[in-house]
Amino acid sequence: MSDRLFIFDTTLRDGEQVPGCQLNTVEKIQVAKALEALGVDVIEAGFPISSPGDFNSVIEISKAVTWPTICALTRSVQKDIDVAADALQYAKHKRIHTGIGTSDSHIKYKFNSNREEIIERAVAAVKYAKRYVEDVEFYAEDAGRTDNEYLARVVEAVIKAGATVVNIPDTTGYCLPSEYGAKIKYLMENVKGVHNAILSTHCHNDLGMATANTIAGVLNGARQVEVTINGIGERAGNTALEEIAMILKSHHEIKIDTNINTQKIYPTSRLVSSLMNMPVQPNKAIVGRNAFAHSSGIHQDGVLKNVQTYEIIDPKDVGIDDNSIVLTARSGRAALKNRFSVLGVELSQEKLDKVYEEFLKLADRKKDIHDDDILVLAGADRTTNQRIKIDYLQVTSGVGVQSVASLGLNISGEKFEACASGNGPVDAAIKALKKIIDRHMSLKEFTIQAISKGSDDVGKVHMQVEYDGQMYYGFGANTDIIAASVEAYIDCINKFRS
Ligand code: KIV
Ligand code: ZN
Repeated sequence: MSDRLFIFDTTLRDGEQVPGCQLNTVEKIQVAKALEALGVDVIEAGFPISSPGDFNSVIEISKAVTWPTICALTRSVQKDIDVAADALQYAKHKRIHTGIGTSDSHIKYKFNSNREEIIERAVAAVKYAKRYVEDVEFYAEDAGRTDNEYLARVVEAVIKAGATVVNIPDTTGYCLPSEYGAKIKYLMENVKGVHNAILSTHCHNDLGMATANTIAGVLNGARQVEVTINGIGERAGNTALEEIAMILKSHHEIKIDTNINTQKIYPTSRLVSSLMNMPVQPNKAIVGRNAFAHSSGIHQDGVLKNVQTYEIIDPKDVGIDDNSIVLTARSGRAALKNRFSVLGVELSQEKLDKVYEEFLKLADRKKDIHDDDILVLAGADRTTNQRIKIDYLQVTSGVGVQSVASLGLNISGEKFEACASGNGPVDAAIKALKKIIDRHMSLKEFTIQAISKGSDDVGKVHMQVEYDGQMYYGFGANTDIIAASVEAYIDCINKFRS
């Protein structure tokens, strides 16, 4: 008989901590519903004390989602736990995730404390959270670098205090797979009462070992994994949900099952990437654009003879469907609505009408409309209420001539115009923009990405602009990459706090 592994998704908490990837509450609800359809067991919906936005998102996700457990993060601080319990009031199944740093460096430098006091604080936090909810998870932050003997004492104490799940985070992504696996084994063998709780992995990818460490943890007894879609997360990210799900599905000798409907993996990956404006690297395992693309002659020949020669996963098993290009200028609202629903996005009638208008404009310019194109359109109305908008943009450029741009902006209903020349069309357009909006801002990062393959493709532009000591992230999408670049710059300016 197979064992059951619980999937704890933290895309909306650890994943959302990535600068520039913040979602609004409506977008978080879309992601939460997609995670529910994907089959995750637990959705970590936020850190309620950290901001009113996080508090509100936990409330709204709790109302929107039916069967997964909704989890809220806290420190080992009573006020955090009070606020988390309040935010979880509408959740049908709720969990408080509380914890404290347990490595010597956390104890000494972060808490100016000692080992005994940390155990007391951990136990007190679990007991306090138990006053509100039955299901309490404890995290031993930096467990990866915590000495195993002491970690076992912490784990034993919090289980005795009522923790139902104990999370063993490799917070810095430092552990080797053999070391992390041995840590879980040590806890399974040395903690009295370990079977009264579930041990959970939570691995970061700083050295590229998050997935390997997670699997090592599972093979040694962990029965919950903390993961994110596309492996997003601070720094190098967290363990990718899709990788764990497909490793367990492909390796039949590991008799451990999850509740993941793997055919929803690809649409969920696209949704998260699109809403968070976070491109997926083309060679990313399972969900990257090239993950199933065989380009060498030897591979193509082998795959044509028998796909199993070079393909260990059927792309259909992760929801990649070759027939996904089904929308054209003649498609109606119902077809568009249906495609959104396959992608896990439910739109109100009003929003659908708006997106449909934009869709028709795009379909006039572009022959094939891909899923990514319509996901960009669905996320696009974040710019419609912005203070600064483009009225027009005209650029001339070519080989052997200087690029010149003329730009018209509408700023809170007033019209402004400027002309500039530059080193290439984007430079000229941005110089014109800076003539109208004269501030000390500088471009720090600029990436252009084509969504699919054609020359009529939509280009996505991500920018990072520094202003007044702060970094701002902006995004633009257009079949004209110069317009997309100006949109992205304006998106940054619209976010300036002063
Ligand atoms: O990486 C980490 O240690 C965490 C904890 C807060 C669970 O994200
Ligand atoms: Zn983390």
